[in-house]
Amino acid sequence: ESSQPSPGPGGGVHAPGRAAVPGRHLRTDRWWLAPAATVAALTAFVAYSTWRAFAGADYYAAPYVSPFYSPCLAHDCVPMKGGADWPLFGPWWSISPALIVLIFPLGFRLTCYYYRKAYYRGFWASPPACAVAEPHAKYTGETRLPLILQNLHRYFFYFAVLVAGVLTYDAVLAFRDPGGAWGHMGLGTLVLLANIALIWAYTLSCHSCRHIVGGRLRTFSKHPVRYRMWTAVSRLNAHHMALAWASLVSVAVADFYVYLVAGGTFADPRFF
Ligand code: FES
Repeated sequence: ESSQPSPGPGGGVHAPGRAAVPGRHLRTDRWWLAPAATVAALTAFVAYSTWRAFAGADYYAAPYVSPFYSPCLAHDCVPMKGGADWPLFGPWWSISPALIVLIFPLGFRLTCYYYRKAYYRGFWASPPACAVAEPHAKYTGETRLPLILQNLHRYFFYFAVLVAGVLTYDAVLAFRDPGGAWGHMGLGTLVLLANIALIWAYTLSCHSCRHIVGGRLRTFSKHPVRYRMWTAVSRLNAHHMALAWASLVSVAVADFYVYLVAGGTFADPRFF
């Protein structure tokens, strides 16, 4: 040990006791590809969703409502919710309805264990990839503000379940024709169905969900129902990353579809 060169002062990979590797890393593959792709994809999504969330228009094309705007707490969404009025959110409510509800799915994704890994690597290079030293001298993990707030994830999970419930309701309403009669199926119905299936798969594959259904048990044999649920969630959980991306794409596609139909750019093909 004493014959090795000193790793130098500071923390991180230069902390005492760490192996003294002269280069920043020893990887020879294209390790930068995944963080670069993460940055590109998340930036594109944030740009798109910001534009749409602030637009406050073209989010409802009967019988479809954009998932960005649901539950739609706005006066002009009233017809699709069965005529109930929202006294709090009448015409005087000038803020885009998406800004009221997006905080929940956004908070859920922002604090998601997978997305945390992805954006810590992509945007903060902390670390950029496995076995690649990060540029930061200090590492405090998620032990202080603001990152300690990542612990709120489990609570965002509960809200995410509620939002998924509302989107399921929207998908069911997509089987009504624009006049309100049941028995309709258009391309938009399929788009909303595919989206809600992916949203549920992503939500239920959450690590917090896995802990909620199967955690804090001493013996699975005494809790067969929870064991079965945990087994099912664990199977989904193995695909959490793929589901995170698939549902992110599907929610944007569903919103864009409603935008095109609502704006008259595209006529929703009707199957029956
Ligand atoms: Fe990703 Fe909970 S860990 S949604």
